[in-house]
Amino acid sequence: MDIIAHPSESAAKRLLVEAGLPAADITAKHLQDFFFCGSGPDLEGLVGLELYGEVALLRSLAVATRRQGSGLGSRLVEHAEHYARDRGVKSLYLLTMTAEAFFLRRGYARLPRESAPEAIRNTKEFGGICPLSSAFMVKRLWSQPL
Ligand SMILES: CC(C)(COP(=O)(O)OP(=O)(O)OC[C@H]1O[C@@H](n2cnc3c(N)ncnc32)[C@H](O)[C@@H]1OP(=O)(O)O)[C@@H](O)C(=O)NCCC(=O)NCCS
Repeated sequence: MDIIAHPSESAAKRLLVEAGLPAADITAKHLQDFFFCGSGPDLEGLVGLELYGEVALLRSLAVATRRQGSGLGSRLVEHAEHYARDRGVKSLYLLTMTAEAFFLRRGYARLPRESAPEAIRNTKEFGGICPLSSAFMVKRLWSQPL
């Protein structure tokens, strides 16, 4: 299944609401770095990035219930990681209430919230949308040569 950039705002928000994830803050600018799969009005999967130079926030990962468990979530995360790496991102952060184990198995590690870089602390997800009890996680996309 193809992964395509720039979903429509209404379709993206509909899937996020169905998945119980925040959607209210999403603007047209965010959607430039969002990716989706599925055709027609109902998306099958969605993932988004907020890029801030060498750091980025991965957010809005959702797979429609009928398509869960077939590898789509993993493929969307890999796609977002490649896209971020190609744009010079070295550390990819996220907050999650529901999918900590999923991300641990995909190379993310939990971090204390206090260690968040300023650009990530200033995002709406970090600043209020995601509850304080969310797991804060990072994956390093780049390692220094030995
Ligand atoms: C988290 C989520 C994106 C995963 O998407 P997915 O397409 O089901 O992911 P995958 O199929 O790639 O992998 C799902 C994992 O669950 C396992 N699984 C098996 N059967 C499953 C099923 N029926 N449903 C879901 N997962 C199943 C898979 O084996 C895989 O396990 P692994 O982590 O050991 O590899 C999806 O469950 C979702 O949209 N959840 C609601 C929104 C959410 O919590 N998003 C994360 C916010 S940060």
